[in-house]
Amino acid sequence: MRREELSLVLGVVKKSLKPYLGRFPSNTRLPAQGRPRQEILAEIEAMKAEEQRVWHDGYVSGAVYHGDDAFVGFLSEVYALNAELNPLHPDVWPRATRFEAEVIAMTATMLGGDRSPTREQDGGVTGLITSGGTESILTAMRCARDQARAERAITEPELLMPTSAHAAFSKAAQYYGMTAVRVPVDAQGRADVAAMRAAITPRTAAIVGSAPSFPWGVIDPIEELSALAHEHGIWFHTDACLGGFLLPWAERLGEAVPPFDFRLPGVTSMSCDTHKYGYAAKGTSVVLFRNAHLRHYSYFTMTDWPGGLYNSPTMAGSRPGALSAEAWAAMLDMGEEGYLAATRRIVDTCRAIRGGIAAIPELRLLGDSLLVAAFTSDTFGPYALQDLLSARGWNLTGLQLPAGLHLGVTLRTAQPGVAERFLSDLGAAVAELRANPARGSLMAPIYGLGQRIDTEVSLADVLTGYLDVQYES
Ligand SMILES: Cc1ncc(COP(=O)(O)O)c(C=O)c1O
Repeated sequence: MRREELSLVLGVVKKSLKPYLGRFPSNTRLPAQGRPRQEILAEIEAMKAEEQRVWHDGYVSGAVYHGDDAFVGFLSEVYALNAELNPLHPDVWPRATRFEAEVIAMTATMLGGDRSPTREQDGGVTGLITSGGTESILTAMRCARDQARAERAITEPELLMPTSAHAAFSKAAQYYGMTAVRVPVDAQGRADVAAMRAAITPRTAAIVGSAPSFPWGVIDPIEELSALAHEHGIWFHTDACLGGFLLPWAERLGEAVPPFDFRLPGVTSMSCDTHKYGYAAKGTSVVLFRNAHLRHYSYFTMTDWPGGLYNSPTMAGSRPGALSAEAWAAMLDMGEEGYLAATRRIVDTCRAIRGGIAAIPELRLLGDSLLVAAFTSDTFGPYALQDLLSARGWNLTGLQLPAGLHLGVTLRTAQPGVAERFLSDLGAAVAELRANPARGSLMAPIYGLGQRIDTEVSLADVLTGYLDVQYES
C-alpha cells in the first residue's frame, strides 16, 4: 500500500467513525458560558438514539453483555447514588472499600477460592479491582515479572503463551520490558501443551492460558498447563476475562467445562471481567492472586513524598468507586440463580447459531465453544461474507491467521428471534456469494498487508492512522 492509498482508506474510516461532524457543533474550546443542561442532554439523547438500535437489538458481537433497559436503569441509579466515590480516600467513603472487597471476595469464591488446595497454608485467594480485562492482565503480568525478578533472579523475562492469548499479554510485554513468546495452537485452537513445554526457558517468568481465548472461544488445557508451570516453579495465569462469569455456571448446568480456576494448585493468578458476563457497566474487572503475598507485588507505597504518606494498590491513583458500586450491585441483583439462567440462555443460543452454521456446506466452524460462534469458509473469502453481513446491519469481528468471523453471544443475542435473524441473514449472504464466489472485500487487502513487507505503508501504520482519526474533532 502507498501513502496516498492510506489517506484514502483513512478518509473512508473517518466518514464512518465521525457521523456527527458537521451535524453538531465541534467543541474544540470551552464554551464562553456553560450551555443549558437540557440542551446538553438533548444532544446526547440524539446521538444515543442513532447508536442504540444496533447493539440493543443484538446485531453486535460481544460489546454489551446484558443491556436490558430495566437493568441498565437500576445500574444507573446505583451510579448516581455513588457518583463522588473514590476508594483512594477510604476514610471518607468506607463504603467504597466495602464494594471493592466484596466484589473481589464473591468473584474469588465463584472461581474456586473457597476450594483452593493451598488455602490453609497461604491464607487464600485475594484480588484487586481494575478498569477492565486489559488492566487486570497488565497487573498480573507486572506482578509476575517482579516476582520472577525478586524470587527467581530473572532479569530478562519472557511471557510464554499460545498465539490465541489476548493481545493485552503482548501489550504487557511491551510496557514492562518482557519478551512475548507465542506458541502455535492445535487444530482446535487450543494451547499445544507439548509445544508450550518445549518453549520454556530459564527466563520464563509466566505461562498463560485462557478460559476461553477470544478468537474461537475455546478453553485451553489449563489443568495440564498449570501443572507444567507448577513443576517448573513458574507463575501461571488463567485469563478468564471472557469466561470467568460464565464457565462456573455452565459447569453447574452440566456442560463440559474442564478445570481452569483456583481449584488447580498451579494457578497463580486469574483475570475475570465483571464488565463482560458479570453484567456490570463498562470499567471494572477483577484480578485475583492465589494469596496476599502475590498481591503485594502490585502495591505501590511512598514514604518520603512531601504530599504525605502515599499508597495505591493498582495502576490508577484515584479510582471510580461508583463503577465498583455498580459491579457490586449487578452481582447482588443477579445472584447465582440469575447467572445460571443467563448462562443457560447464552449457551443455548450459541448452540443454535453454531448448529445453523454447521448446516451450511460452504462454512466451517472454528473450534468448539459455549459462547462464541467462530467460522470460516474454504469456498469464498470470509471477509466478503463479513461485508455482506455488515450490509444487513451485523457487526461481527474479523479474525485473521486464519481468516474467519467471530460472533460473541451475549444476552443481547439471546433475545427472542435474534439467532433466527442471524442465520437467515447468513444464509442470504452465502447465497449471494454462491452466485458470485469471486466477490472481493474491503478488508481482505488490509489484513493482507500483515503478510507483506514490500509496501510503503505497513498494517501497523494503518492501525496507528485508525487511532489518530478517532481523536480528530
Ligand atoms: C479472553 C480475553 N481477555 C482479555 C480481554 C480484554 O478485555 P478488555 O477489553 O476489557 O480490556 C478480552 C476482551 O474481549 C478477552 O476476550
